[in-house]
Amino acid sequence: MGAYRELHDRSLEQAQAFWAEAAEALHWDRRWDTVLDDSEPPFYRWFAGGQLNSCYNALDRHVEAGRGAQAAVIHDSPLTGSQCTLSYRELLEHTALFAGALAAKGVTRGDRVIVYMPMVPEAIVAVLACARIGAVHSVVFGGFAANELATRIDDAKPKAIVSASCGIEPNRLVPYKPLLDHAIELASHKPDTCIILQRPQAEAKLLAGRDTDWRDAVGAAQPHDCVIVNATDPLYILYTSGTTGQPKGIVRDNGGHAVALHWSMRNIYGVDPGEVYWAASDIGWVVGHSYIIYAPLLHGNTTILYEGKPVGTPDAGAFWRVAAEHKVACLFTAPTAFRAIRQQDPDGALLGSYDLSPLRTLFLAGERCDPDTLHWAEDKLGIPVIDHWWQTETGWPIAASCIGIEALPVKAGSVSCAAPGWDVLALDDDGRPLEPGQVGAIACKLPLPPGALPELWNARQRFYDAYLNRFPGYYETGDAGYIDADGYIYIMSRTDDIINVAGHRLSTGAIEEVLASHPDVAECAVFGVADELKGQLPVGLLVLKAGAGQNHDDTVAEVVRLVRERIGPVAAFKQASVVARLPKTRSGKILRGTMRKIADGEPYSVPATIEDADVLAEIRQSLVALGYATT
Ligand code: COA
Ligand code: AMP
Repeated sequence: MGAYRELHDRSLEQAQAFWAEAAEALHWDRRWDTVLDDSEPPFYRWFAGGQLNSCYNALDRHVEAGRGAQAAVIHDSPLTGSQCTLSYRELLEHTALFAGALAAKGVTRGDRVIVYMPMVPEAIVAVLACARIGAVHSVVFGGFAANELATRIDDAKPKAIVSASCGIEPNRLVPYKPLLDHAIELASHKPDTCIILQRPQAEAKLLAGRDTDWRDAVGAAQPHDCVIVNATDPLYILYTSGTTGQPKGIVRDNGGHAVALHWSMRNIYGVDPGEVYWAASDIGWVVGHSYIIYAPLLHGNTTILYEGKPVGTPDAGAFWRVAAEHKVACLFTAPTAFRAIRQQDPDGALLGSYDLSPLRTLFLAGERCDPDTLHWAEDKLGIPVIDHWWQTETGWPIAASCIGIEALPVKAGSVSCAAPGWDVLALDDDGRPLEPGQVGAIACKLPLPPGALPELWNARQRFYDAYLNRFPGYYETGDAGYIDADGYIYIMSRTDDIINVAGHRLSTGAIEEVLASHPDVAECAVFGVADELKGQLPVGLLVLKAGAGQNHDDTVAEVVRLVRERIGPVAAFKQASVVARLPKTRSGKILRGTMRKIADGEPYSVPATIEDADVLAEIRQSLVALGYATT
């Protein structure tokens, strides 16, 4: 582990020199005054005093350097049966025009713009156009319902919203416009303007005075030049699940973000400029922000924007077709996608018809990767398969086998070692570092490297409370696990109520809030149970109010519908049961962890503090009826 160790040590011991060197690869309009501003611990800022433009670095810089004709984005959409490629020059032209369209609507530096769009090239154009004029984008995933969008509108207070008439799922069209209209109705803050991309699959009715057709907005616009911003200015806000229904607005700055992401492409993912890189995720998630949009473009790669699924569009060979057709060198997706492919094509028969020789590495992240899936992928693809670990908060991997530096031996079940820049430890409850192999809270020593969140949007105290308060001097990841004697990190579970469904991060607390709002529900508990395909699925148990409706099936159907309406289909909340009581401690704490263990057939001990141990037998019966707790 020589080369990796040496670089990792240097990244911590000489952090400022390390990142200043990495920053040289980008174009700065003004050099930074200090690499790391540590004048206000535990809050840190990278490249303070520096100025740049992220869009310039992702597009103009490459066109000026002669990369204009290279494909920047390949949109491959089995869901619409279409494909298109935009060169760096074309993407720059579209982006500059749309930036002009936003500016004509009064959007200026520092204004927020919500982007609520499906996986179409215009979504990338909208994001980069915001960066171009110094506006702060906030992309909202299309699988969220109006209520979630409204919460984000009220927190980010956007001047403009960019959306599309519809998204396309394999089994249905998703009309975005009614969701958008409803969200704006629900929100207290009202955007001045909405720009709507009309897709031929379902045109939307526009509201005179507020809505503009994308084509009209662009048709009337003049290309806009890059607005120089501070390295420490926010580039975007991305909301992610917290422990309540109020999501956390993760802020990403311009300078540190560009430096870290650019650096990661060669060093972590091992790709060179000009190669094709594919992150099979969605632009609504952090993986999409970082590795569909920014990192590949900052680094001069070709990025694939895939509007399809791993299976069913049309079959479990879809990933192989895309990788072969576009000569993908590096693929990044969630283990769920591979579990889905494996379920439908266990022998990998569909692989046979494709030439995957350009594909050198598969990276997996977003959820725990079970060793079976890892080995299946290794076996079928015959290339290194790297499980790596990160979070919306960190923006890029905390741990990975950085193949551009040195491919570390794979230990299935581990996310490999800390990436350069990250000082990762397992801590006990009192914040003391644990011995190798001992399970504790996984934390990262401050300061975090460039690219990680500097704060939460308009919520510094919440930032402090959620991440910095429990272990002074550390960032608390919210993950529990251990580190072995070789420095390999094992992520085992969350320390909070977050669950991971098909690589999507959900708060069980937020789902409980929805269940509790049903007039018949007195009490409820939601927890994640193990699922072969999606990793985890949420299950709800409801205690009804005295005298509530007698038909429990109706109540269950109603709460399932409520979660879909309020949070969105992505919550995948389909299973609930009515029970007489919930197991609690004498102090009233609901024993969600014990119920999860019962559901998963894991050994559990009856807590000494339980109010009434008999209640667990009834819970078990309900879970058996739902198809769990069978072992
Ligand atoms: N807009 C609207 N609805 C969406 C959506 C979007 N962008 N994305 C998902 N949904 C809906 C789906 O249609 C589905 O609705 P349904 O209940 O009506 O069927 C629901 O949300 C759950 O979606 P999903 O999690 O995609 O499950 P699925 O059963 O449709 O597909 C997989 C299963 C494995 C194919 C899918 O989960 C998958 O591709 N996983 C990869 C995960 C991934 O890339 N994660 C990113 C993190 S790196
Ligand atoms: P998100 O912010 O949506 O990217 O979710 C981040 C969380 O997903 C992490 O805190 C982990 O709990 C989980 N996670 C991400 N990658 C991995 C991985 N490779 N192994 C285990 N858990 C992971």
